Amino acid sequence: GQLRKATNMVCTVSDDRGEEVTYAGTPMSTLIAEQYGIGDVISLLWFKRRLPPWAVRFIEMCIVVAADHGPCVSGAHNAIVAARAGKDVVSSLCSGLLTIGPRFGGAIDDAALNFMRGADEHIPPDEFVESMKRAGRRVEGIGHRIKSAECRDSRVELLSAYAHQRFPSTRYLEYAQQVEAYTLQKSTNLVLNIDGCIGALFADLLSGAADTLFDGAHLDEHERSQAVRSIIELGALNGLFVVARSIGLIGHVIDQRRMKQPLYRHPWDDVLYAQDDLAPTLRRQ
Ligand code: ACO
Ligand code: LMR
Repeated sequence: GQLRKATNMVCTVSDDRGEEVTYAGTPMSTLIAEQYGIGDVISLLWFKRRLPPWAVRFIEMCIVVAADHGPCVSGAHNAIVAARAGKDVVSSLCSGLLTIGPRFGGAIDDAALNFMRGADEHIPPDEFVESMKRAGRRVEGIGHRIKSAECRDSRVELLSAYAHQRFPSTRYLEYAQQVEAYTLQKSTNLVLNIDGCIGALFADLLSGAADTLFDGAHLDEHERSQAVRSIIELGALNGLFVVARSIGLIGHVIDQRRMKQPLYRHPWDDVLYAQDDLAPTLRRQ
């Protein structure tokens, strides 16, 4: 008989060998004929299932609300500086994307996992926050530079309102809101931020769509939570911010190139030129 050649790579996501490419088994002509949108494509290529319409719409809403937040945030600032240094679109985009991390846009996965742990293990919200403080950690998904209890983040409100209407359950969001209620007692800017809101709601989404994701396997609550955690641990939720914010970053890069903006140099009068030995005490000024 014929010997099968050992393969160097395994792929379970897409297949380009036939007449048309398939995304998780769905041919391109079907995607177009049945008007699949970007949320459907993300659900096929990332989760390998077509998620139900309420979930797909939520993914698309996340992309819309996280696409941009003005020129001053870390990512846009970096992309603008790179574009003004004469770098091309890909390099400037990458410069912006590389700021996405634990403080900016990249706290979604950890926020989701932590809020799930807190809710599943019935940890009282004050204990949840204080235990992270004892461990010297900031609560992922909490805190914002310019948003506060007095100046709410409308993105968080819009996503939450949608989820309350369309999700089968919002128990992880509710837990995140209990955490927020506690952190707001400490400081007015310790709000549930957009990363935390997307994280908690995505945990609700994946739990609510478990039948689709896990082929109707009848999982008990613990098994479902474990299965959802295993998906989140792969890093897809921070990936959603990357996809969304790339749209805005490219917009900023094109904007700078269109206006032929010159090399950026930060003004001297905005820098405190401090002695090394003074620097630690001046850090928060
Ligand atoms: N958990 C616990 N305490 C916090 C948190 C938090 N998430 N955020 C701030 N604090 C407290 C700390 O005690 C901090 O004091 P410290 O510097 O001694 O640790 C104090 O508040 C001062 O906070 P701020 O001056 O408001 O901090 P800053 O404005 O620099 O931080 C930030 C904003 C980076 C978002 C912060 O709140 C944080 O790290 N949050 C967690 C990560 C996160 O969710 N990032 C996503 C933000 S949304 C987005 O980027 C799209
Ligand atoms: C963002 O979406 O970029 C933010 O919420 C961060 C910010 O500082 O506005």
